[in-house]
Order: sequence, then structure tokens, then C-alpha cells
Amino acid sequence: MKKYLVTGCAGFIGTNFVYYMLKKHRDILLVNLDKLTYAGNPANLEGIGNDARHIFVKGDICDPELVSSLFGKYDFDYVINFAAESHVDRSISDPGVFVRTNVNGTFNLLSKAKDAWCDAEKNVWREGKKFLQVSTDEVYGALGKDGFFTETTPLDPHSPYSSSKASADLFVKAFHDTYGMPVNVTRCSNNYGPYQFPEKLIPLMINNARLHRPLPVYGDGMQVRDWLYVDDHCRAIDTVCSQGKPGEVYNVGGHNERTNLFIVKTVIDVMREKLGDGGISENLITHVADRPGHDRRYGIDPTKIGRELGWYPETSFEDGIVRTVDWYLDNTGWMESVTSGAYLRYYEENYGSRRKLTADKGFSE
Ligand code: NAD
Ligand code: DAU
Repeated sequence: MKKYLVTGCAGFIGTNFVYYMLKKHRDILLVNLDKLTYAGNPANLEGIGNDARHIFVKGDICDPELVSSLFGKYDFDYVINFAAESHVDRSISDPGVFVRTNVNGTFNLLSKAKDAWCDAEKNVWREGKKFLQVSTDEVYGALGKDGFFTETTPLDPHSPYSSSKASADLFVKAFHDTYGMPVNVTRCSNNYGPYQFPEKLIPLMINNARLHRPLPVYGDGMQVRDWLYVDDHCRAIDTVCSQGKPGEVYNVGGHNERTNLFIVKTVIDVMREKLGDGGISENLITHVADRPGHDRRYGIDPTKIGRELGWYPETSFEDGIVRTVDWYLDNTGWMESVTSGAYLRYYEENYGSRRKLTADKGFSE
């Protein structure tokens, strides 16, 4: 039986990963270490019931004693590190916590994995171990109109979030290059699907649209993101964990580049079709002051993971967005539970003072 330490799996991608793995593999143990920040929601995991293959531990990846004790107790084969502060806008207003969790937390996990997996005197690594860092395409910075991010594109992060993720990636690389730790890094594009916290574009737009609230589009809305359905990302991580060549980086994406404005209009169309609600219309779209340092375009070249590991995305955007809207409309209780209290304060802080922009002023500041 393979034993995994999976971190941050009460959040969006981690939750989906736990469900994916429990469905896909019979004989596994997933120990899920999550601090339950604003983005972590234990209710996400209720569908697991009392399946003994999943053990939840509330705690911080930065805590050395806790992480050591988990290695002592479970003797993990794999560490998959999802835990992170993940929202670019929050990293602009409060960067320190991104350094703490994303950099120091990753370093702590690496150190404790090394202690458990490597005989320090002989510098011999135990067989079958691997550390997988779940990273992001944002570490590469922004593209112009042409070209794609490959695994050899230089790191050029712009936000405190992407800088903290790039720093973590470099520590993972250092543990491989210096100590010989078996590692992989995956760098995925924007995910969408169930359980995503509604600070991110798609669930935020779904929630605002259903409440007939303004849909805040940063700047001209012509920034491009490369969207991947979350289950495809989960399958990529599982594939890299079991088959990825140690020391390698794998980009994950599906050539699904869309402008933000296209995404928002698609959400409106799908919701109107489902609800027949005339109050949901493009009139809700409100251009607001842009995100500082906003990356204009991301686009992944996924050739390597396809060629070496046979991974390809399976969900088209057209199907994925309908499944996603359906999920949020079927789970309005979930949405309401995560959009009260602290969320309202965050929303006011992030959007309350953003100037509205108009087309005749060219959408710029
Ligand atoms: P999320 O914000 O939804 O979830 C993060 C989880 O980490 C939460 O459950 C939170 O409680 C937990 N966490 C935060 N700090 C912690 C700490 N110190 N100790 C333990 N747990 C902690 O994030 P997500 O969107 O699910 O992203 C997961 C990972 O995937 C992140 O590393 C992110 O950088 C990466 N990623 C995300 C996307 C995307 O589009 N969402 C794309 C590529 C890569
Ligand atoms: O590319 C992968 C990254 O995708 C992950 O590493 C991050 O964790 C994840 O948050 C995501 O980052 P983005 O900044 O691209 O995602 P976000 O949903 O915040 O924004 C997507 C685009 O939509 C971006 O260009 C900003 C824009 N946007 C976002 C929000 C929340 C708006 O125009 N209005 C909004 O209200």
C-alpha cells in the first residue's frame, strides 16, 4: 500500500485530488495535513464519510515537530504539496504570509522528508520515495501575443504569490541537485471546477451573477489564461507522482486559452440557459481598476508530459464549464457558507475602492 502525505487538501484542487485518488486507487492511504485557513473547508471532505484510506490532520506545514511526527507515524512513500496561499490579489495586500507558507512551509516539508528518507551518513535514499511540488505556470511570468511556456522558460515571476511559488520550486530543485532527493515539480495553468473558493474568477462570477451583482472585470478583460478542468490536473499529478522521472519539471495544460471577458460572457450564457433568468446579462459586467503587475497572457506547452507520460486533458472547456456551473447551482448552500463574514470583508477590501473604468477612457488607470 502506498502512503501519501498530501497537504492543503481541504482547499480546491486538494479536495478534488482526494476524491479522484480514492476513486482511482483501492489500496492507498492519504494523510491530509491542512491548516484550515479561510481557503480550507472541512465540509468539502464530508463526502468521504468514514473511508479509512483518508486521515485528516489539522495543522501547519511550517510546524517542524508535527511534520516529523507524521513521518514517524506513517512512513510516507510520497509527499504531494498542495498547501499554499494561492490568491494573487491577497498576495498584493499581504505578501508576508505567502513567504511563510509557500517558501518556509515547503522548506520544512523538504527537510523532514529528507530526514525520513535519506541515510545522512551514507547519503543513500530509500527506494520508492518522491516529493512532488504542485506549482504553477505563474512562475514563468507573462507571455506576449506569441509562444508558450515550456519547462525551460526562465522563471520571471511578477506577483508576491508567483515569486513565493518560484522560490519554493528552487528549494525543491536544490534538494534534488544537492542531496539527490527524488522530486518532481508540476506547473499547471488555471484550474476550474467544483469547490473553488469564490475569490477566483469563475466561482466569483457565478456567485455574483446568481445574485444579480456587478461582475468586476479587471482592466479591459483581454488578459488571457489557459483553463484546465480540475480533474485533468488531478490525473496529471497522479501520473507524475507514479511515473515522472526524478528531478524533472512537467508543465500541465490543455491549449485552452481564453480572454477573461470570454470566460465571464460564457458564464453568463450558461447561467441564463440553465436558469432562464433575464436578470443575468452582460449589463452586469463592470470594468474596474486593473490588478497591479497583472500578467497579460499565460499559455502552457504541454508537449513533454504528453510525450513522456502519455497525459492529455480529457475535458473540453465547453463540457467543463457546464459541469462547473451546474455544481455551483446545485450547491448554493456551500456557496453561502463560504461567502459570509470574512469573505464580505475581503470583498469590500479588494473591490470596494477599485475605480470603475469605462470604454471611452480606454479601460486604463
Ligand atoms: P486553495 O487556496 O484553494 O487551497 C489551499 C489549501 O492550503 C487550503 O485548504 C488551506 O487551508 C491550505 N493551507 C494554507 N496554508 C497552509 C499551511 N501553512 N499549512 C497547511 N495547510 C495550509 O488553493 P488551490 O487553488 O487548491 O491550489 C492548490 C495548489 O495548487 C497551490 O499550491 C497552488 O499554488 C497550485 N496551483 C493552483 C492553480 C489554480 O488554478 N487554482 C493552478 C496551478 C497551481
Ligand atoms: O495560472 C495558475 C494560477 O491561476 C494559480 O497559480 C493561482 O493559484 C490561481 O489563483 C490562478 O491565478 P490567476 O490570478 O490567474 O486567477 P484569478 O482567478 O484570480 O484570476 C483570473 C484572471 O481573471 C486574472 O487575469 C485576473 C482576472 N480577474 C480575477 C478576479 C478575481 C478579474 O478580472 N476579476 C476578478 O474579480
